[in-house]
Amino acid sequence: MPERSCLAGAGLSLALVLGSISGLAEPDTVGFREHVVPILNAHCVACHLTGLEQGGIALHARAAHGNLVGVRSEQSGLNRVEPGDRQASYLYHKVANTHHEVGGEGEPMPMGGGLDPELVEVIARWIDAGAPAE
Ligand code: HEC
Repeated sequence: MPERSCLAGAGLSLALVLGSISGLAEPDTVGFREHVVPILNAHCVACHLTGLEQGGIALHARAAHGNLVGVRSEQSGLNRVEPGDRQASYLYHKVANTHHEVGGEGEPMPMGGGLDPELVEVIARWIDAGAPAE
């Protein structure tokens, strides 16, 4: 009986490990609504609400995709998001703090704090996966 519960425990940890691996969001599994919108809501929307604020970009769930993908940035010659190519996407450079290297200006985003590298990578993978709308 003790052996059995031990096995059950091992099975449970394996399931947890596999669950967290799939949660890492491989490029082809990063969803906009599931993975990117929560980041925008938690770290960006407070300042980028209507699009009339500095930066000129509303980032709430209904507006964000249309304001990002294929739209020229105000601060650089790059599009905010170029599907499939993080390096050509100004959004990526703003959160990775490499925006000055691509001719951009201003602070890294989110202004005043910066973004956890894991979250930067989620945004980058979503872009590399073609920046799907769902
Ligand atoms: C505290 C307020 C604040 C927060 C939070 C914030 N921003 Fe900004 N954002 C600004 C301001 C102000 C500017 C314009 C000045 C600058 O770039 O430094 C800007 C500019 C931008 C630009 C440039 C737009 C363009 O077209 O050139 C992008 C992209 C951007 N923000 C994305 C984000 C993202 C993504 C987040 C969340 C991860 C975020 N911002 C969080 C205030 C904020």
